[in-house]
Amino acid sequence: MSRLKLPTIAPSDITPEAVWQSRRRWLRQAGLGALAAGAGGLGAAASSWADEAPKTLAATPNPDYWLSNKPTSEKDITSYNNFYEFGTGKADPFEYAHQMQTRPWTVSVEGEVARPRIFDIDELLKLAPMEERIYRLRCVEAWSMVIPWSGYSLSALLKAVEPTSKARFVEFTTVMQPDNMPGLRSRIIDWPYVEGLRMDEAMHPLTMLVFGVYGKPLPGQNGAPLRVAIPWKYGFKSGKSIVKIRLLEDMPMTSWAQIAPNEYGFYANVNPGVAHPRWSQATERRIGDGFFAPRVDTLMYNGYGEQVAALYAGMDLRKNY
Ligand code: MTE
Repeated sequence: MSRLKLPTIAPSDITPEAVWQSRRRWLRQAGLGALAAGAGGLGAAASSWADEAPKTLAATPNPDYWLSNKPTSEKDITSYNNFYEFGTGKADPFEYAHQMQTRPWTVSVEGEVARPRIFDIDELLKLAPMEERIYRLRCVEAWSMVIPWSGYSLSALLKAVEPTSKARFVEFTTVMQPDNMPGLRSRIIDWPYVEGLRMDEAMHPLTMLVFGVYGKPLPGQNGAPLRVAIPWKYGFKSGKSIVKIRLLEDMPMTSWAQIAPNEYGFYANVNPGVAHPRWSQATERRIGDGFFAPRVDTLMYNGYGEQVAALYAGMDLRKNY
């Protein structure tokens, strides 16, 4: 049998790094990782969630959080993203997020709690039964998706650290990995990315700590190894790749409210009746329907009014946007 002749020039010498990294990534996602490693000798790359974490994430469908809408395709959910730490283009997170180191990973839960604790990702994966829920995601940019997430209610984690009576807000902080996140070089956001919720919003059963999508561990671009999902709020409230959760007495300053307080409020509840200063929020484009498909009406609280409207009883939603 003739021996395979290996090239003397590594592909990385003749192809720009970003190109071969993404090529390798496509192969790995298509289950051809071994082939890519064998053919190009590119096996020894940085470790990532995809390399070291289980390939599937067992989760039980929860009928209480199931939509009849057809979920957006896995390809769209994992390749059309906002994750500014990797760049502002919609394809940047898919292109670069595999560089993020997602193991080992810890989350510090601290502040106004009786039992502050640093959790390892493996502890968090076992803290409560893993559920699959189908949620709507409405981005402030007026597009939307329907996403099958795997995870459990954030309240399970918050209860474990025993919030004190002073805890009125929760702050979420995203990881900063300057070597792996090219977007951190731009100054659009005063990094790290910080988001927050009022305590009753954080304890609401709909507010989800997410570890997976489409039955698999989250890929980097969707916020590996864990992010939050708050389906009645604009997508920017759902911080990704979280390393710190702080319970606070005072309302935290959040990234978008800091950049443009007249455009992005702390609440950010989906509200077709309150326009963004530069565009309407009355309708949305569903990703995957095609650019020329008719836009659909945006629903108050993104369709979750029955579950969450009571949280805002008596509040002026024009002021508290
Ligand atoms: N979290 C971090 N750390 N950085 C970001 O840029 N973008 C937000 C949110 N979480 C963002 C983030 C925005 S604007 C949206 S719409 C959602 O993530 C998108 O989540 P998805 O890419 O998983 O659909």
